[in-house]
Amino acid sequence: MCGIIGRVDYRDISPNLIEGLRRLEYRGYDSAGIATLDGGKIRVVKRAGTVDRLAEAFRSSPVRGTLGIAHTRWATHGGVNDINAHPHVSCDGKVAVIHNGIIENFAELKSSLRREGHDFVSETDTEVVAHLSEDILREGDDLMQTGLKLAKMLKGQYALVIMNSDNPERLLGMRHNAPLMVGVGRNYSVYASDVLGFIDETKRAVFLEDDTVSVAERNHLEVRSLGGLPRDYKVVDLAEELGSPDKKNFEHFTLKEIHEQPGSILRIMKQDPGKVTLFRKQLEEAKRIFFVAAGSSYHASMLGKIYLSEHMGLYSDVILASEYRSYERWFDEGTVLVAVSQSGETMDVLEAVRAGKEKGCSILGVVNHAPSSLERMSDTVVNLRAGQEVGVAATKSFTSQVALFYSIANKDIDDLEVESISRAVSDSLAQEEAVKSIAREIASSKDIYFLGRGKNFPLALEGALKMKELAYLHAEGIAAGELKHGPLALIEKGTPLILINPDDETHDDTISNGMEVKARGGVLIGVAPDTHGGYDYFIRIPKVLPDHYPLVVAVPLQLLAYHTARLLRANIDKPRNLAKSVTVK
Ligand code: M6R
Repeated sequence: MCGIIGRVDYRDISPNLIEGLRRLEYRGYDSAGIATLDGGKIRVVKRAGTVDRLAEAFRSSPVRGTLGIAHTRWATHGGVNDINAHPHVSCDGKVAVIHNGIIENFAELKSSLRREGHDFVSETDTEVVAHLSEDILREGDDLMQTGLKLAKMLKGQYALVIMNSDNPERLLGMRHNAPLMVGVGRNYSVYASDVLGFIDETKRAVFLEDDTVSVAERNHLEVRSLGGLPRDYKVVDLAEELGSPDKKNFEHFTLKEIHEQPGSILRIMKQDPGKVTLFRKQLEEAKRIFFVAAGSSYHASMLGKIYLSEHMGLYSDVILASEYRSYERWFDEGTVLVAVSQSGETMDVLEAVRAGKEKGCSILGVVNHAPSSLERMSDTVVNLRAGQEVGVAATKSFTSQVALFYSIANKDIDDLEVESISRAVSDSLAQEEAVKSIAREIASSKDIYFLGRGKNFPLALEGALKMKELAYLHAEGIAAGELKHGPLALIEKGTPLILINPDDETHDDTISNGMEVKARGGVLIGVAPDTHGGYDYFIRIPKVLPDHYPLVVAVPLQLLAYHTARLLRANIDKPRNLAKSVTVK
């Protein structure tokens, strides 16, 4: 969601600001803007639409300067148009603000600012921050004091970067429940919501703690708690593996990331056995276990629940993070929350974790994007180390999560087994041509169904989610046994149904369900190690142990969604309306 860049430098920074925004595009956005202090005045260029559109506008009306802020907006309050794009400027033109999050009390603040004579130009919640800052600065406060006063007035969640023309060598940064970090360069500092905002230029970063106000200068950073107490911070060297993402020879990041899975699965399954043992021990000792996650991480957690049940005899529950409140009464000291999030920044997951921590739960975090808020909030954390996932659709992070849960649940896995899983995933990838031809058959369908039982049910949900978000086709994942309880009524002549049907204990029942669909005119696409007379089309997957099937099945489902989306010319790496990290509720 919204991407933030703020930079204080010794040279003209406008090209860096626009480049920084390009690197944050993957987060998802619908408009972009930049402001610099140009000849002592704040000048803004902003546009609804892409960063390319902003760059075009910038070329015809360039702004320059050594101090500036830039933003990609994912609309929450107010429509997608040039005026609502950030930055937002105060009435006196001396303050410009960019924001990720939601100011929940903006309506009250706006009414009282209006009564005092402030004119609002946008429909956004953010604009109040510009006007409030103007008032505070007029009273003679410095930037740090301004931030501390703002923190007392604002309710909601925010990462904010604020510039003021009377402070030409400083930026104010504030964070409360939204990510914000500082890239530390040679004679410059960069605020960003994500390391990608600066990683091409500096590998030194400060991960600002939550609930902090900070003022960055070229060679200095001051950090305080929202209450005004000085806070220490560490400058960390970003690991090499976070390096600049590169598409290599793939047409899209999503395809590259699908192809990286034999390696990413190997990495997570061979990583620090001590950490896995610690995770396992904490689960064994727990009074109650909840997985908390959203989207694909939720589907992976459903598999985690099955592995824990089958291999460790442990009962757990999987909660959609956005629904945690219905279960909060069970959060207590003996409870373990397994918080699963690729980005480690999903607002709903962080909220559930915060609620859990308040009630004394232990937090076991599973993240890919590290460092992240979830990593810092967890008592024990496993980093998936799948590498940067740029495509908005989760692919390699999903299989790494599943592989991790299997490794935690099954303590007898050895290197031979791990290597055989990785090889089997490569074999699944080798089916790409067959998958492509099936994509041609289904691309014109209006509905596509995915069916599976047991461990194949979360895969059916995941396959449908990939189809929806990549190809924009209506798709549903159905538990095979539920078919007759309603969904069968949807089947008509030509409806494609992806039957996830490995040779595990679910095979025979699932085939019967498939035949029921076929008898009603449905087109059966089997995903299985062996073909069957009932299949109209067939995607072969390697024959593996039942526990390994989720990993080898995930790959053709991802490829199917990818190639269908490609035929339909969808925006694969950045599907419409979606964001890579969902940092608002
Ligand atoms: O970063 P997280 O794993 O917390 O993200 C959760 C979901 O937003 C995410 O899985 C989303 O559903 C993906 N776009 C699915 O491909």
